[in-house]
Amino acid sequence: MSSTGNTGFNMRPDAAPEAQAEPQPDAVPETLAPDDLVDVVEERGRLDIDAVLDRLDRELIGLVPVKTRIRQLAALLLVDRLRCRYGLASDRPTLHMCFTGAPGTGKTTVALRIAELLKSIGYLEKGHLVTVTRDELVGQYIGHTAPKTKEVLKRAIGGVLFIDEAYYLHRAENERDYGQEAIEILLQVMENQREDLVVILAGYKDRMDTFFQSNPGMSSRIAHHIDFPDYSIDELFAIGELMLTEQRYELSPEARTAFRHYLERRAEQPRFANARSVRNALERARLRQANRIVSSEQRHWGRADLMRIEPSDILESRVMTQEPDDAAPATVRQLRGG
Ligand SMILES: Nc1ncnc2c1ncn2[C@@H]1O[C@H](COP(=O)(O)OP(=O)(O)OP(=O)(O)O)[C@@H](O)[C@H]1O
Ligand SMILES: [Mg+2]
Repeated sequence: MSSTGNTGFNMRPDAAPEAQAEPQPDAVPETLAPDDLVDVVEERGRLDIDAVLDRLDRELIGLVPVKTRIRQLAALLLVDRLRCRYGLASDRPTLHMCFTGAPGTGKTTVALRIAELLKSIGYLEKGHLVTVTRDELVGQYIGHTAPKTKEVLKRAIGGVLFIDEAYYLHRAENERDYGQEAIEILLQVMENQREDLVVILAGYKDRMDTFFQSNPGMSSRIAHHIDFPDYSIDELFAIGELMLTEQRYELSPEARTAFRHYLERRAEQPRFANARSVRNALERARLRQANRIVSSEQRHWGRADLMRIEPSDILESRVMTQEPDDAAPATVRQLRGG
């Protein structure tokens, strides 16, 4: 799928990617005469950029604005790399980012792909992702925070440091909170070791906005704000189908209807976490399917049976049974045989 905007990264180059030594940042620039030409497609083919972007497209349903932003970022970095090679040095682009969105909207997954991308373009040496929350950065006692934060930073160097619910680092009600110490250290490293580390702050949009208001230093170091919207029911359904296909399961036609009703209900309930809730729901459907097969009197089951999720595997969920029957949509009652 390549419907992610016209950003120059929508076509596969013909050249197959091949391993190649990274140009050293301080290598003597090649000379580029005024009428020389650089082959962007060749350069892209040499790096693994398209493989990473294709994977992002394939693995993630929807998220078109997010994918478009990442393609733009990839284009910026590729051009920066070419410019650098020809001695057109400019400041290295700031890559620290902020991901806002509700739980389960794909933030961690996208951060993983970005880390890979930055490695393939030669911006990060390792391209690994270190995910932390306040607890891993901030100590309980005086003198504990600096070593904790520094240890995390050491682990993350060469990759991406992903700080989930970053706003918990700041406690407005407590001026002397140790979180502030962690923020100061992070700020320094974000400025001075930009070459070696990309920091991504993640969390709910409103809380993140408040956090930035009280931490302008942090706000000014973040170059890219990417918002992850909640998924529509259609997208949640497609995400579920993708997850099932990956695991070699499929929904029977009746189970498709049941699953859609399930999603409509689940999305209205507390602690709904978008794609994460879809994954959890399908895990439980698998349990019920297995139980149905094992506890049945039928001894022999074919390949298709072992793959197929039936309506009962979904409708027996508490999400579908908790409310009185007459509150269930007519189709659900029908599917239950009621
Ligand atoms: N657009 C999508 N298409 C397919 N799968 C998705 C999509 N978004 C998320 N997922 C899947 O949903 C699960 C949760 O995603 P992820 O951990 O990236 O979300 P998150 O925003 O980091 O959530 P949290 O805020 O709870 O940490 C993962 O298993 C991921 O593969
Ligand atoms: Mg996450």
